[in-house]
Amino acid sequence: MPAIVIIGAQWGDEGKGKATDLLGSRIDYVVKFNGGNNAGHTVVIDGEKYALHLLPSGILSEGVIPVISNGVVIDIEVLFEELDALIARGVDVSRLMISSNAHVITQYHRTLDKVTERFLGKRQIGTTGRGIGPAYADKINRVGIRIQDLFDENILRQKVQGALHQKNHLLVKIYNRRAIEVEEIVSNLLSYAERLRPMVADTALVLNDALDAQKIVLFEGGQATMLDVDHGTYPFVTSSNSTSGGASTGSGIGPNRIDRVIGIVKAYTTRVGAGPFPTELHGEDGEWLRQKGFEFGTTTGRPRRTGWYDAPIARYSARINGVTDFVMTKLDVLSGLEKIPVCVAYSVDGVRVDEVPASQSDFHHAVPIYEEFDGWQEDITGAREFSDLPQKAQDYVLAIEAISGARISAIGVGPGREAIVVRHDLIN
Ligand code: IMP
Repeated sequence: MPAIVIIGAQWGDEGKGKATDLLGSRIDYVVKFNGGNNAGHTVVIDGEKYALHLLPSGILSEGVIPVISNGVVIDIEVLFEELDALIARGVDVSRLMISSNAHVITQYHRTLDKVTERFLGKRQIGTTGRGIGPAYADKINRVGIRIQDLFDENILRQKVQGALHQKNHLLVKIYNRRAIEVEEIVSNLLSYAERLRPMVADTALVLNDALDAQKIVLFEGGQATMLDVDHGTYPFVTSSNSTSGGASTGSGIGPNRIDRVIGIVKAYTTRVGAGPFPTELHGEDGEWLRQKGFEFGTTTGRPRRTGWYDAPIARYSARINGVTDFVMTKLDVLSGLEKIPVCVAYSVDGVRVDEVPASQSDFHHAVPIYEEFDGWQEDITGAREFSDLPQKAQDYVLAIEAISGARISAIGVGPGREAIVVRHDLIN
């Protein structure tokens, strides 16, 4: 006790690091349970900037044990690059634990990610091109390579042969690419094995023992609810479960061990990649949000699509994840607006719909119904107590809370880790 899950409540990049920072020194373990190096967070510690894509943020805190659990797909080359960059800056990375059941992203996954996107043409998902989808597809198809396979050369060779058998036909005959050699992949993966070996553990056992010993374990979801393969805007989603249930299957702890689910919402909405986004702004307002909020992807550098806050999406996330607390980030970005539109429902073919439509076609057609709230002109970055916020900002937060499906327990008011207003403790 307690197990705390943090998930993105929109389409990603909500700023989960804000909540992680807030929990800070009280955490014993930080677990990455889904996704791979498609994520991206920049952590600033003592003025030093660290860009992490695969490693859990806990790697930077001395007292924390970072864990990459079974639900993750690992590009080992990227793993070692990130570790080496941290070692070069004097960070002790020796505590990292990796599940033997986690799957491996190889060169053929990266290649397939790129060629299939190209062949999709107008129907592109806009993936990060890191091989995430093809690696998860192999996992579900039961032709994936797991971390433990790297320690048994014969098994590894058989599995790579099995995986490449069909893929090489595809690559050569459909995509007009060269075939990938089994031995090339096998020797590449084997070259990582010895360095990897001391990090590999039965992380499900470790985490259950930690919870038995009353340690505080933070499960950090990559991506976000609307990118979840089951509950997001399929097919414009990532290939893993980025909702709170993924913390259980992706790490091997029972769902009844989870005590808190913290949903991170931005005070407005952003999305990278293709897919429906009802409150998207295409004109000046959208550009204003992008520039003021510095909305450019950490992993791909792509400009993010921007739009107003969408309350039905917050309520949907609250339901799907069992959110106990929201942390709202980037409220300061909205300072200076006369009026702030918030989507409270949609109009689908002229009919008012209060919740996220169950049909994908309806969601594509959903036109937001906005309510406008008064804005505030003051700089709020120095606020630390709720009462420090201008009255209109307080009213805005309370109004949003009333329609978002869970309480807003903390509010981010600026880029620094200290720039946060806490209303309710996130652990006790
Ligand atoms: P993939 O995860 O690379 O397969 O990409 C699938 C979709 O998820 C694309 O629209 C990506 O832009 C999006 N995506 C993946 N990771 C992130 C993230 O960390 N933040 C925001 N969007 C992401």
